[in-house]
Amino acid sequence: MTLSVVILAAGYGKRMYSKLPKVLHQLAGQPLLLHVIKTAQTLNPDAIYVVYGNGGSRVRETLGDLPVNWVNQANPKGTGHAVLQALPHIPDDHQVLILYGDVPLIKTATLKQLLADNEQQFALLVATFDDPTGFGRIIRNPDNEIVAIIEHRDATPDQLLIQEVNTGILTGPAAAFKRWLPQLKDHNAQSEYYLTDIISLVAENDHKIAGLLAPSLEEVAGVNDRKELMRLERYYQSQKALELLEQGVTIIDPSRFDCRGTLNIANDVTLDINVILSGEVAIDEGSYIGPNTLLNNVKIGKNVIIKSNCVIEDAVIEDGCQIGPFARIRPHTQLGKEVHIGNFVELKNTKIDDFSKVNHLTYLGDSTLGKRVNVGAGTITCNYDGINKFETLIKDGAFIGSGTELVAPITIGENAYIGAGSTITRDAPDAQLTLSRAKQTTINGWSKKKGESLD
Ligand code: UD1
Ligand code: CA
Repeated sequence: MTLSVVILAAGYGKRMYSKLPKVLHQLAGQPLLLHVIKTAQTLNPDAIYVVYGNGGSRVRETLGDLPVNWVNQANPKGTGHAVLQALPHIPDDHQVLILYGDVPLIKTATLKQLLADNEQQFALLVATFDDPTGFGRIIRNPDNEIVAIIEHRDATPDQLLIQEVNTGILTGPAAAFKRWLPQLKDHNAQSEYYLTDIISLVAENDHKIAGLLAPSLEEVAGVNDRKELMRLERYYQSQKALELLEQGVTIIDPSRFDCRGTLNIANDVTLDINVILSGEVAIDEGSYIGPNTLLNNVKIGKNVIIKSNCVIEDAVIEDGCQIGPFARIRPHTQLGKEVHIGNFVELKNTKIDDFSKVNHLTYLGDSTLGKRVNVGAGTITCNYDGINKFETLIKDGAFIGSGTELVAPITIGENAYIGAGSTITRDAPDAQLTLSRAKQTTINGWSKKKGESLD
């Protein structure tokens, strides 16, 4: 079976009260529509068509790099009209699957089942709701076959009692869509061309329509307002946390855990409260991530300890490192084995080799440090002159005294000592003490004089 997926995303999203198109609002750090596109991709379709409309140029700008075909529904006139815009691009012998840009948590396994059981025929994903208000109702004949979908606003009082509803997700042969969709009428409460009306046309022509019950309601839940969006966000996060717990990761409080990316976390990792993991995050065995920490695109080795309140982005941290509390590690930073980074240290584009320590109140930018380097409190690399950035190299075993300014470009030699409080502007040789200090003077009687002048 060759598959074409059509994702409907032309809706207005009025109830979001937002300048941002609804399908660009984020769930787990990604636009709603991106979740749906990624799920569609897992089905290996021949093509994916995204029908966009209002505010659509912004949708295209944001997600334009993805390998999908963008179909403009300039003047949205209903879900049937939306699918009709994509149909001319789809060959007759394809199976078509309709998804919704605002139904982000639909699972690959459910869609695969819907498709596998129903090649070359129509099938609907249905659900049963205690309160079916707003949904299209599934109408069955005495033989329990699906014969129609009636929209809430067009339903009779009896039909409104039906709790089996249309989730909107639907599959059928392209040739049949092409045959029936142009016949839709907009004679209904909303004067729209309802995709759902295709069901009665198909049934009247003696074709069977299968119904698959959705495995969970969250999977087929749509986002119409921010309350629904946040309900789904919490559901997604609780599912992610459960998955990790089942795999052998400790999450101290699963209700205070946020994943906004792709995780690869080994056994016996502990995540303390309010950890946010975004982008691609890999954490190896036995590591501990302290409270209130943000990791964005980070690879962490074994037995690493990240203490509370750290922000770490685009970094690689090898086995046995200890970081924080209150450390900020900025992009393109690499830490070797058993490196210690302490409180109020900022690192940017910096590579630090094994066993080195930067324990307090320091900024290192565009720097390379060798093994067993010790950087004292309050050290600053002056790497930027307002126009260009310059590099600092500190070789193995060097000791930088507290309160030192290293004016880049500069090299500090192997086992060199830099005296505390120095401003170092020229390279320091290996294994020697280098310092630069203004001479200390004491002015006798000055404080007494000052006191006198105040009288
Ligand atoms: C639709 C179904 C209803 C189902 C419900 C499930 C129809 C007529 N009704 O109703 O049976 O129970 O979904 O949530 O299909 N869209 C377009 N272009 C348009 C109109 C809509 O792209 O011209 C997109 C919207 O962006 C949205 C989706 O289609 O993603 C559904 O449209 P919406 O108007 O929300 O349909 P519902 O009334 O919810
Ligand atoms: Ca809807």
